[in-house]
Amino acid sequence: MPRPPDLLVHESNEYTTRALSIETVDSAEIDQILQIEREVFEADAWSKKMVLEELASPWSDYCGIFDGSTLVAYGGVKGDIEGDLMTIAVIASHRQRGLGRSLLRTLLERASSRGMKQIFLEVRASNAVARQLYEEEGFRTLARVPNYYRNPTEDALTMRLELDTGNGVCQSLRTSPSAGEIGSVDIP
Ligand SMILES: CC(C)(COP(=O)(O)OP(=O)(O)OC[C@H]1O[C@@H](n2cnc3c(N)ncnc32)[C@H](O)[C@@H]1OP(=O)(O)O)[C@@H](O)C(=O)NCCC(=O)NCCS
Repeated sequence: MPRPPDLLVHESNEYTTRALSIETVDSAEIDQILQIEREVFEADAWSKKMVLEELASPWSDYCGIFDGSTLVAYGGVKGDIEGDLMTIAVIASHRQRGLGRSLLRTLLERASSRGMKQIFLEVRASNAVARQLYEEEGFRTLARVPNYYRNPTEDALTMRLELDTGNGVCQSLRTSPSAGEIGSVDIP
């Protein structure tokens, strides 16, 4: 595992250096994952059974960002040649620092390196923040699915990204040369 990047965090008028790391997560992190699920998705949170099934699937690849020993973000991709971005979430206190983008790029690069060619996702139509992130990373909207979501009921947008341009370069990283290698993505 490469040395995790450091983050300068402004706290109580002092700058401190705190290590953030992006790592694979599994059932050992179930309690922290469920805490993120409840905090971020509230009534729409995945159950413990759903999360454990996701983590155990041989088609799944789940990563998290740790601030020290605390899991502050997690997300996952599932599939083989084609796949889905299953979820991505950053706890509120750690948003707008580039963690969501770093985690997404890590998941996409890992998927590409496993041979995934295209990846799909669904996003709530009202989720302007996530939609902007996905569009900036190269996802394009394919369709609108009426009443796809519950708690509350809402349309989904289906989006797609082609991961492999045919020359081994991940399309989403082509526009982002600073994204770095797998496992050493820069966290601003
Ligand atoms: C979507 C989410 C993962 C983004 O995480 P984040 O760490 O805050 O995102 P980043 O700091 O990496 O920002 C990446 C981009 O997202 C967009 N973004 C982030 N916060 C935003 C805000 N408050 N308003 C508008 N755009 C925003 C911007 O495009 C931003 O890029 P920029 O900083 O260059 O402008 C996070 O907001 C989250 O967990 N939301 C709740 C869960 C969720 O909606 N998940 C997606 C389900 S499909």
